[in-house]
Amino acid sequence: MSSKAQPEVTIRTATLEDGPACGRICYDAFSTEAGFGLLSMMFSTPGFYAVVAESDGRIVGSNVLVEQAVIHGVGPITIDPRLQNAGVGRKLMQAVMDRANRNGAAGMRLVQAAFHNRSLSLYASLGFDIREPLSCMQGRTRERSIPGCVVRSAQPADDVACIGLSRRVHGFDRGAELAQAIREGTARVVERGDRVTGYTTNLGFFGHSTAETNIDMQALLTSVESFAGPGILVPSRNSALLRWCLANGLGVVQPMTLMSTGLYSDPAGAWLPSIVF
Ligand SMILES: CC(C)(COP(=O)(O)OP(=O)(O)OC[C@H]1O[C@@H](n2cnc3c(N)ncnc32)[C@H](O)[C@@H]1OP(=O)(O)O)[C@@H](O)C(=O)NCCC(=O)NCCS
Repeated sequence: MSSKAQPEVTIRTATLEDGPACGRICYDAFSTEAGFGLLSMMFSTPGFYAVVAESDGRIVGSNVLVEQAVIHGVGPITIDPRLQNAGVGRKLMQAVMDRANRNGAAGMRLVQAAFHNRSLSLYASLGFDIREPLSCMQGRTRERSIPGCVVRSAQPADDVACIGLSRRVHGFDRGAELAQAIREGTARVVERGDRVTGYTTNLGFFGHSTAETNIDMQALLTSVESFAGPGILVPSRNSALLRWCLANGLGVVQPMTLMSTGLYSDPAGAWLPSIVF
């Protein structure tokens, strides 16, 4: 049961003009500046479906559905701290889940901050299953390359190999995100034996990475000076990769949890999800 009386709340599609108000709430909820630019981008870019909650004519929260793949991603969701635990988050989650169902999405995924009792309870009660404990990690690897692996910037012509790899490892591809990352210059591939054996859209919070083996993933990780945002998300049950990261001097920033509804199969390879999934 929620501890407060439920306020009158309406949910509507977000517009670009809502960006600053939602960015402010995101700042108040997470104490980070990142929300301002991020939400404005998500509210105005095709492939993102954003909703806001209004109460008494005032925006009190927002949520985003990332619709770029057959699996949709949820987040960030943030509620005005003064109205948390009063049912607003549940309405905003239901709105994007309804939308994903209308889209015919095969499933939905999100990354939950593991310490947060309320978000865990909310997502689990809405039908999200816990799939993977994650360790957000930051730092610079002591090893600066992996023998036999070459890492280079991804080119448009790499998309066939990367899409095929993603389908083999995850059962679906994230070609739209990859294409965007190649355009923006953040995507990299690793080659071993003259073949693409891994790719990343960005080594950091907002990128995902997929590789055939831990060796390929390690090569990607050694190729940068630091990870964007708070860090990379390492599946904690990949003990060999987690221990390699620790031995290479990376620090754990915070534990997180990958959750999903609908289609999910255990990945058949090495992978790092983004903060969305
Ligand atoms: C997490 C967040 C989005 C949830 O939204 P909210 O409006 O506060 O949550 P709601 O009131 O809709 O739902 C919370 C549910 O969890 C339940 N709950 C809260 N704490 C609980 C606990 N410790 N144990 C069990 N259930 C709990 C509530 O009773 C409620 O369930 P109900 O709908 O069945 O009554 C919001 O609190 C927030 O913005 N937090 C800060 C930012 C953040 O952490 N975002 C998510 C990162 S993963």
